[in-house]
Amino acid sequence: MNSELPKAVKNPRAKHDFKGRTCSIRGVGSYVPARVLTNAELEKMVDTTDEWILARTGIRERRVAAPGEATSDIAAQAALRAMAKAGVSPEHIELIIVATVTPDMLFPSTACLVQQKIGATRAAAFDIEAACSGFIYGLEIGQQFIMSRTYDTVLVIGAEKLTAIVDWTDRNTCVLFGDGGGAAILQNRPDAHGLLTACMGADGRKGSLLCVPAGGSLCPASADSVAKRLHFLRMEGRETFKNAVQAMHTAGREALARCELDVSRLSCVIPHQANLRIIEAVGERLGVRPEQLFINVDKYGNTSSASVAIALDEAVEAGRIKRGDLILLLVFGAGFTWGAAVIEW
Ligand SMILES: CC(C)(COP(=O)(O)OP(=O)(O)OC[C@H]1O[C@@H](n2cnc3c(N)ncnc32)[C@H](O)[C@@H]1OP(=O)(O)O)[C@@H](O)C(=O)NCCC(=O)NCCS
Repeated sequence: MNSELPKAVKNPRAKHDFKGRTCSIRGVGSYVPARVLTNAELEKMVDTTDEWILARTGIRERRVAAPGEATSDIAAQAALRAMAKAGVSPEHIELIIVATVTPDMLFPSTACLVQQKIGATRAAAFDIEAACSGFIYGLEIGQQFIMSRTYDTVLVIGAEKLTAIVDWTDRNTCVLFGDGGGAAILQNRPDAHGLLTACMGADGRKGSLLCVPAGGSLCPASADSVAKRLHFLRMEGRETFKNAVQAMHTAGREALARCELDVSRLSCVIPHQANLRIIEAVGERLGVRPEQLFINVDKYGNTSSASVAIALDEAVEAGRIKRGDLILLLVFGAGFTWGAAVIEW
């Protein structure tokens, strides 16, 4: 381990004879489309009420991409903001990882489209798909390249245009989701531990509980698949809810245990913003004080892989997180997938 690193925090990698270098988030940025869709507007589209949505989910409004605005546009805007804050120009970026379930197209990857849009001509680029857990999966993958000294600067983005795959006739799901993107620049900072640990998990047995059934190789697009509305997102809400609470709680506990950290030492806890009741249940089980939780689900709904990235950026901007603070990110999504990351900011 680097001898300049602060000793007050245990870096779990130390016990594995860690010879790599640490990986920090040098800067974060986020972008949401300007168009706001309120609960009152949804009342006119499906059989729902503002009261129901607010009471069951905590969501007041969400953002909707402009016509012609694609996930890569959202991702590029978030990336440019993160690059500005990190003081990184396009030619510094060596790798772009985009986490998304709403790529512009099946291929090329959204990461390649972003590479072109931000002018990062030196960068390798690929997408990952871990649904709402994508940002933590992306951070952990990006970190490997910094630790191994393969790359010095990695750009990780979570970006979604979920309004493109939401069934606007299904009140069970259409009230929950929105569009947006968040990005992080990863680099080594010699004086910081940065990403201390990331626990990731998956349970493929539960894949059918939250999915888009058609449009892939199993069920390619056909007149029949369109007529049956199989290209839209489907979810078993109650089962997803239970699994989300349990998985984020377990992953959070494991991540803290790996770092031998008590939850009281965290300055900020940022859970996936899917539903206020899920956030509060996870917070309660982890013993998080309400003032430690960062919540913005009321403004954006569930933005999947962008969710914790946008929240992280807003928490930093609001002064809720300062250099040296310890924070915990928690995610859960389709797959099912989940994750928890402890970061020394
Ligand atoms: C979807 C969710 C908000 C539903 O809340 P819930 O309290 O579990 O509600 P239920 O599913 O039990 O449905 C209760 C009733 O409300 C109705 N309802 C569902 N959506 C509604 C809406 N938008 N407006 C009014 N009523 C609605 C249901 O039809 C059901 O009616 P019924 O009892 O007559 O069948 C909740 O289950 C949830 O947040 N699930 C997890 C979502 C999530 O995190 N997904 C992404 C993970 S990454």
